[in-house]
Amino acid sequence: MLVALTDTSKYPDEPAPAEEPVVEEPVVEEPVVEEPVVEEPALDGAALFTAHCGSCHNGNGLGSGPTDKTGATAAAITNAIATAPGMGVLSFLTDAEIQAIADAL
Ligand code: HEC
Repeated sequence: MLVALTDTSKYPDEPAPAEEPVVEEPVVEEPVVEEPVVEEPALDGAALFTAHCGSCHNGNGLGSGPTDKTGATAAAITNAIATAPGMGVLSFLTDAEIQAIADAL
């Protein structure tokens, strides 16, 4: 009857892995976020200039006289916002708005 005591198959070195409880992943419904279709309103560059630039560059609406910015490119305006004294406050203007202003100038 010694056989049974030496039967290692009953005592494996590695304990049998505990039964992992099957955790059901809750199915989380991702809310479908619909991208709202935003109709880009046509930007009125002249109005934007009057509103944001006219106080400094105005003469007759689109700039005139010594501070005339007629023909200024969007890049020039963006650069001016970054560098010109007093224009930093206009950094909220979007690229589209700046482009619209440039198109109007
Ligand atoms: C607070 C006053 C102020 C406002 C507002 C302002 N600017 Fe300026 N801007 C200046 C000053 C000062 C300079 C530097 C001197 C110069 O070039 O007239 C300048 C420079 C520029 C320049 C670069 C110089 C050149 O002639 O190329 C451009 C372009 C320009 N402004 C366009 C604009 C536009 C477009 C707006 C509106 C989005 C605007 N500015 C709003 C004060 C202002």
